[in-house]
Amino acid sequence: MKPIRKAVFPVAGLGTRFLPATKANPKEMLPVVDKPLIQYAAEEAEAAGIDSLVFVIGRNKRAIPDHFDKAYELEAELSAAGKRKLLETVRNVLPSDVSCVYLRQAEALGLGHAVLCAKPVVENEPFAVLLADDLIKASPQGCIAQMVGIYQRFGCSVLAVEEVPWVDTRRYGIVSTVDGVEGELRVTSIVEKPAPEVAPSNLAVVGRYILTPLIFEKLATTPRGAGGEIQLTDAIAALLEVEPVIAYRFQGKRYDCGSKVGYLQANVEYALDNPELGREFAAYLDELCRERRGERL
Ligand code: G1P
Repeated sequence: MKPIRKAVFPVAGLGTRFLPATKANPKEMLPVVDKPLIQYAAEEAEAAGIDSLVFVIGRNKRAIPDHFDKAYELEAELSAAGKRKLLETVRNVLPSDVSCVYLRQAEALGLGHAVLCAKPVVENEPFAVLLADDLIKASPQGCIAQMVGIYQRFGCSVLAVEEVPWVDTRRYGIVSTVDGVEGELRVTSIVEKPAPEVAPSNLAVVGRYILTPLIFEKLATTPRGAGGEIQLTDAIAALLEVEPVIAYRFQGKRYDCGSKVGYLQANVEYALDNPELGREFAAYLDELCRERRGERL
């Protein structure tokens, strides 16, 4: 079985929900505490043994290659000032054994199209896809590392899933499944953003996928679907007809950082768990809650 060495990061979306913050800056560069979302996703992939990061970028995304690039001037200044810890932080943004490839998605034709753009780099290998605005906190193993384990057991595509409130089915790819003989969930159908009345379940696909290279063939023949875009979900539906696909309930907590509330929740919880900020921030939140409650009494 071929190992998973490459991860694709579709980062061409416009991030309109966060305007004006995302007017000149990609949404994947929004920080949670002090680290941009894209770096959390890159680190999650690296922790799963992935050493080749493939970014499919759109316009206004130059900050992403800049972020993963070497910052000579900054490093020289930090070094001269003896700020060794910060220097390490800057240098560790990209470990030396990990390489980056940047591809341009000229037209915003959807997630499926973005993944198809990565074909010349991924070639005939299974690969991971990470949507950086789904931030997943999991330990000891990250979500993609867990999924690589499932891929190694079953040798087929794996989709990370979680149950969502029924009213939210129209925000996700939704799967129906049957139990496999080893307790795994075999996907029997997948549909993009169904209304709750017609959704086959409330089991939603979150932004983590392991895909076999046959997906490229399916994407190449997938017609434009919902919203005039080439949907990854439609290509997975076609893949299902010829290969098994597993839905995997990951262990961990997902923050939907594509929504303002989810993004704020992530910031609060990551700040509380931060060894340098946690105590002070918890005391502040405690105080604030008391104050606000007092106001309401
Ligand atoms: C995309 C996919 C959807 C999936 C979701 C996960 O939608 O099309 O199937 O459930 O990511 O976050 P988007 O959030 O880009 O609209």
